[in-house]
Amino acid sequence: MSTPSLLILPGDGIGPEVMAEVRKVIAWFGDRRGLTFTVEEDLVGGAAYDAHGVPLHDDTMARAQEADAVLLGAVGGPRYDDLDFSVKPERGLLRLRKEMDLFANLRPAQCFDALADFSSLKKEVVAGLDIMIVRELTSGVYFGEPRGIFEEGNERVGINTQRYTESEIDRIARAAFDLARKRDGRVCSMEKANVMESGILWREVVQKVHDADYPDVELSHMYADAGAMQLCRWPKQFDVIVTDNLFGDLLSDAAAMLTGSLGMLPSASLGAPMPNGRPKALYEPVHGSAPDIAGQGKANPIACVLSFAMALRYSFDNGDEASRLEGAVEQVLADGLRTGDLLGEEGGSPVSTVEMGDAIVAALEKSL
Ligand code: IPM
Ligand code: MG
Repeated sequence: MSTPSLLILPGDGIGPEVMAEVRKVIAWFGDRRGLTFTVEEDLVGGAAYDAHGVPLHDDTMARAQEADAVLLGAVGGPRYDDLDFSVKPERGLLRLRKEMDLFANLRPAQCFDALADFSSLKKEVVAGLDIMIVRELTSGVYFGEPRGIFEEGNERVGINTQRYTESEIDRIARAAFDLARKRDGRVCSMEKANVMESGILWREVVQKVHDADYPDVELSHMYADAGAMQLCRWPKQFDVIVTDNLFGDLLSDAAAMLTGSLGMLPSASLGAPMPNGRPKALYEPVHGSAPDIAGQGKANPIACVLSFAMALRYSFDNGDEASRLEGAVEQVLADGLRTGDLLGEEGGSPVSTVEMGDAIVAALEKSL
């Protein structure tokens, strides 16, 4: 089989800094585990806008379609706030998701033991937490038509449309049930069937897929607002949560914070299998571009490093090496290394982005 290819899109803000650490990790796997990739790098978001006047160049889009996996840092920043909506950095990311048809967004929220004290919730509520949010990523209100700002009488009206087809709900439900089978076997589906027709259809289709093909998985349904409340009250009741694009955006940020820091959480966005059997895939940290700390060497590279671990697991079918990398991260945290975002009120001295990356590579080396 030919060497698998990675397309790296560092993007904006802290994206390039955290991605530089991931490149060290990728190099380590090549040198020490014989896992080599051809790595190409390109621009996305504000960086692409600065170079090309668009947040994603057509050539970059084509390279992403060809790559075995895409790793993305972050997009956006205050410099681009006043740009026209159509060329905002975020549009670059949304185009990648849509054109690669990456409908299944996997967002694990896992609480590392070493950080359980750091959550804003009580330690017993979050210690050992391990849940997976499966967010639908290519439809719903993010993409539904009609959309826009229109004149209506003597004022303007802003319109977005929540829209889901049965087949879109069917395929994300299957993704969630398949994952649950590899975990604790439980799925909770969240929508607002009490006020939205799209929610009624969502609930119906998820139940139908379950009854037909996944009776062994335990399925429950919850209104998304109640789900948000339950996530904060007792998150360990959940195993897999499946939900739509917008609710998933909100619930995954909330779940991320349970774990102590947004700087810890990776994500995978997966589509249909390519001819080589691998799914179309893009991996990115859940955190954003963090312009307030960009360029200062303060950013936590762990979410981006763990996103590469997800790539090893979901694109390259190498759960063992993914676990090795996750173990190395756990080790540096257990050793007490903290970037600034991981220091609580007691303070302490933070390590830099580069020091954290080097420590992870050293822990990998020790794992041999
Ligand atoms: C996310 C982000 C994106 C989203 C933005 C950057 C477009 O918040 O991935 O959660 O809203 O999906
Ligand atoms: Mg978000």
